[in-house]
Amino acid sequence: MARFPENFLWGGATSAAQIEGGRCLDGKGLSHLDYVFYRGPKIPCNFMLKKDYARAKAEEATLNFPNRRGIDFYHHYKEDIALLAEMGFKSFRMSISWTRLFPTGLEEKPDPDGVKFYHNVFRELHEHGIEPLVTMIHYELPIIFVEKYDGWASPEVVPHCVRYLKFLIDEYKDEVKYWLTFNEINMVTAVPWLGGGIILDRNDEFEMPKNFRPFGPLPKEMAYRWENASHQALHHQFIASAMVVKYAHETAPNCLIGNMFNLHHLYPETPAPQDAYRAHQEHEFNMFFCDVMARGYYPAWILSYYRKNNINIKWYDNYEEILDNGKVDFISLSYYLSSIVTADPRRQERIGSFIRTLHNPYLETSDFGWQIDPIALRISLNELRDRFNLPIYIVENGIGAFEKPDADGKIHDDYRISYLRTHIEAIAEAIEDGVNVIGYTPWGCIDLVSCSLVSMSKRYGFVYVDADDEGRGTYDRSRKDSFYWYRKVIASNGEDLD
Ligand code: BG6
Repeated sequence: MARFPENFLWGGATSAAQIEGGRCLDGKGLSHLDYVFYRGPKIPCNFMLKKDYARAKAEEATLNFPNRRGIDFYHHYKEDIALLAEMGFKSFRMSISWTRLFPTGLEEKPDPDGVKFYHNVFRELHEHGIEPLVTMIHYELPIIFVEKYDGWASPEVVPHCVRYLKFLIDEYKDEVKYWLTFNEINMVTAVPWLGGGIILDRNDEFEMPKNFRPFGPLPKEMAYRWENASHQALHHQFIASAMVVKYAHETAPNCLIGNMFNLHHLYPETPAPQDAYRAHQEHEFNMFFCDVMARGYYPAWILSYYRKNNINIKWYDNYEEILDNGKVDFISLSYYLSSIVTADPRRQERIGSFIRTLHNPYLETSDFGWQIDPIALRISLNELRDRFNLPIYIVENGIGAFEKPDADGKIHDDYRISYLRTHIEAIAEAIEDGVNVIGYTPWGCIDLVSCSLVSMSKRYGFVYVDADDEGRGTYDRSRKDSFYWYRKVIASNGEDLD
């Protein structure tokens, strides 16, 4: 018997900021990701402090902003979609750039060129038999909300965002069936700048430590600001999401609209009950983002966590009703790695929603230290089925690697084939376990700008793009070994993984 359902949505995933380029063309405005500048091939740059932002503005003409270039999908989309079609894609995950439609985020009416661009992309996809899967907000926030407000922590962003989200449904509902509201909504508490456009030291409430490291222990005042601002921002995102889900249900019954969260499966380091309890707590923390969007309410334990930790959320008017009326139709997730948790606070910190993992001696790691664990995906899929009983769309998964063409001019990415093969096996097993997985779109199906590093050197694609971190290169596309392998996988509906 076939392991994958007949209409399984095989495909790949991208985001506007990481592929489009053309950031200032045809009236487009800038988002906060357009101010993230490159700092080196392995240096994370998505923690923006006041001094960094001031530098990005002051040196705008000379700093390197890779998100402004992407891979120039804006001009290459026809060629790119033809390559996806050659692999047999049934589904293509992309996002819409808020500032391509509403350049400052404040306009009442959208920019016609921006509106047309996405119609063109959707038409091209449909002509190739590919179903678009659209993320409404893949992190990007119009820069005005950083300049004038405290990013998503300010309630002012909500009505403007909801206008944009409703516009998407009105305009594209006949071309797009599958929608996601916020990409990796849990990221706002893990990386407040990335997920929420929040500059932690913007109000001078505390002095930044000289040796600040984003994943090191935080000074008390900063931790307080981090937790309060990011959970407030999260609340606003939950509200905007629920409002558009309700609107879509009322006005576009053909559309299905999902959440999207980053799943990181957690193991206790030892069988000590203390470690197991800590793993359980962290696990609940990860699931909380899904709980609110799929069940429509805040679980009791998080309200108690807020009270105990002095997190004072300013609740949106009628928020309980809004959340209850805006429950998603399916669960979507990104999955890359699993983590190890200990109860020993000297050895492990939680920052926002993320735990810094300890080394797992049973797992191999990618070039970037991400621990590869397909079995954890099977376990998590089973749990998600039990918890929500909703269809599940795996909308990101994959392995980032440094890659250069070999002497024959080709990329022989057997490690990628091996990573994806074991994860597809795990998905097939989960389906056999009774999980309703409806699709699989590995991340960065065409090489794109890395989110954490804003570099081209970290590549995920089946398709190689000849561009480097500085934007040099021909931007020509070429097929890696994994391209031919994935084509076979799709053609056999997941049976031929050799
Ligand atoms: C997810 C994001 O967190 O992981 C993507 O949704 C991102 O935008 C992907 O690119 C991989 O992360 P990175 O940092 O390797 O690009």
